[in-house]
Amino acid sequence: MDHFYEKTDSTNLQAKKLAEQGAMNGTTVWALEQTAGRGRLGKEWLSVAGKGLYASCIFRPAIDFAEYAKSTLVAGVAVARFLRKKLADAESDRELALKWPNDILVGGQKIAGILAEAAPPDGGRHTPYLVLGVGLNVLHQRSDFPLAIRPHATSLYLETGKSLELESLLVGLKESLLTSIGYFERGCFPQLLAEWRTMDYLYGKKMECVTIKGEVVTGVSLGPDDDGVLHIVDNNGRRHEILSGDLRLAAGGKGEGRIA
Ligand code: BTN
Repeated sequence: MDHFYEKTDSTNLQAKKLAEQGAMNGTTVWALEQTAGRGRLGKEWLSVAGKGLYASCIFRPAIDFAEYAKSTLVAGVAVARFLRKKLADAESDRELALKWPNDILVGGQKIAGILAEAAPPDGGRHTPYLVLGVGLNVLHQRSDFPLAIRPHATSLYLETGKSLELESLLVGLKESLLTSIGYFERGCFPQLLAEWRTMDYLYGKKMECVTIKGEVVTGVSLGPDDDGVLHIVDNNGRRHEILSGDLRLAAGGKGEGRIA
């Protein structure tokens, strides 16, 4: 079942409430506007009214809860597959890429982001659940993005010249997420990861990682390992596992400056 709001705080927050009340696998919340849209690491997700697709899907994957951590990469493949079709329909040859862990880029500019949140079983109150929140820039024109992010952001309108309808995009996006989560449940994470790696934006690039502990590491990305954890190698040849954190291309790295 889908829940629609003209305006809500955050579709992820609403989806988590529904999940705690027992909402079924596949239940989706979407909104035309979010007043408290959130990205990873507590960042704000700019949610211009009526311009973007702001949607959160509840899943209850029948797999070990520890595996849920891989779902951001799984969702990345789902969103990329969905967007590839839209770009192909418009005969766009701009490159689609995935920036670990949760960004989807077209031509090096961010078009979508994923916020995955999960909760373990809660003493019998609810079974484990996973909420996959996707923010997709759809109808944005350049001027809809604040100056600071304008050079780093894009939208389906800017990429295809088409004003696609939000509700039909939601249907296709949800279908793609359901398909990829289905593969994931059937043990196909290695295949999904292999597909993810073919779109790895950071691979071989010099970057700076601010880990959640606040440690700053500069090195070259080796991409995600078989569990989806990012590895980088620093100038001294030391390998670091990046569990999470904010990633930037280092000055002088291949590609242009900061990508928000
Ligand atoms: C990121 O790039 O950091 C992730 C952005 C995720 C934004 C989406 S919009 C729908 C859902 N509701 C939220 O509050 N966040 C996600």
